[in-house]
Amino acid sequence: MIENIEKFISEFARSLQAETFVKMSLGNYKGADHHLQKLLLRLIETRKGKRLFFLYRYDTRDTAKNHDFKEAVKILRNLLGTDFLSGHLFTTENDFQLDVGRKRKSRLNIAKPTFTTKPQLAHDREKRIQVNPNAFYLKALGITTDRGEIRDKQHDKWKQINKFVETLASLFDKSQLKDRKELKIVDMGSGKGYLTFATYDFFKNIRGIDVKVTGVDGKSELVGLCNDIAASSEFDNLKFVNGWIGDFDVENVDILIALHACNTATDDAIFKGINAKADLIVVAPCCHQEIRPQITPPEMLKNILKHGIMLEREAESITDGLRALLLEKSGYQTKLFEFVSTEHTPKNNMIVGTLQKQKADSEKFEAEVKAIKDFYGIKEQRLESLLEGVN
Ligand SMILES: C[S@@+](CC[C@H](N)C(=O)[O-])C[C@H]1O[C@@H](n2cnc3c(N)ncnc32)[C@H](O)[C@@H]1O
Repeated sequence: MIENIEKFISEFARSLQAETFVKMSLGNYKGADHHLQKLLLRLIETRKGKRLFFLYRYDTRDTAKNHDFKEAVKILRNLLGTDFLSGHLFTTENDFQLDVGRKRKSRLNIAKPTFTTKPQLAHDREKRIQVNPNAFYLKALGITTDRGEIRDKQHDKWKQINKFVETLASLFDKSQLKDRKELKIVDMGSGKGYLTFATYDFFKNIRGIDVKVTGVDGKSELVGLCNDIAASSEFDNLKFVNGWIGDFDVENVDILIALHACNTATDDAIFKGINAKADLIVVAPCCHQEIRPQITPPEMLKNILKHGIMLEREAESITDGLRALLLEKSGYQTKLFEFVSTEHTPKNNMIVGTLQKQKADSEKFEAEVKAIKDFYGIKEQRLESLLEGVN
């Protein structure tokens, strides 16, 4: 009976007005898209006010969209009884279960409410989950189970992926890129691709931006694996390329990422980003081997730096500090802060450069870099040498 469908829709609309809506799901999909399974709706708080968050659950991925109440009711009216033959509406007053059978014969069951209090509203940008645990790539890479639960030994990785996406989202929102509808991102030293996939999924499916992401790695077997998973995920504009960071041509890139790229590969990546005038350069260095053997401890510090661990930490700080200064010299505002440590490295600095409109006082930064190198007896720093080659 059509009335049951209409009654279900009007209860949905009423619950939104009366603020008794908890959540809703549509199932028993019979539409044309063979991969779509469910549609899940919940309320979120956005900058424009309350919106309904539509999560379309496919067999290997999810996509999401926000709608205002009027649009949401209209969409529901188009889908119920045609594409989706069942609906479950939860309000704080009642649960409503709609089932549509053949010839649109339907049944509406009204029961006591499962939830008597409203859920706390997620905030669209700040608090919403930014990494979807049901994403196929997380399952394929062994981070989550088939049911989207985090595997026992993968909690650190999961935390790192979330922290990275959260950091990237916040940097993006504060950058000149924030209103862009198209983005080009390169991830240097993408490895198994956890963070590359999460970056693509976030911009494409959570933010709805037309993003192209390229992961670059020297290991062909990882590149093959990642391309297979990207194809199975239907991440059409995510590609992995086998090659060396220093040889990879970077053009028109908006965001350059390099996470835990070994030793001076981080310098090669930063250099590529600067050369391409990337708006954002985000790197988390891994092992530091270039500076430590060059340091001659200054007299004043010799009894501190005689301890291997202190020398190592000093070398790491100087390396990343010089990288940040060289970014500033190249017109980037920089931030250096703590990131989540990983199995690759217990060291966990993250260096972020944001391209500024005005030119930097490069002589001032050059003098600072020189003074630090002279103080420690450092002859060569890879990023500086690369930049000198182009200046
Ligand atoms: C420690 S893994 C990090 C992978 C990933 N970015 C992450 O954080 O999970 C470093 C990766 O960088 C790649 N790599 C290191 N130096 C490279 C270079 N110069 N060119 C291309 N790939 C490089 C390695 O093959 C490896 O897969």
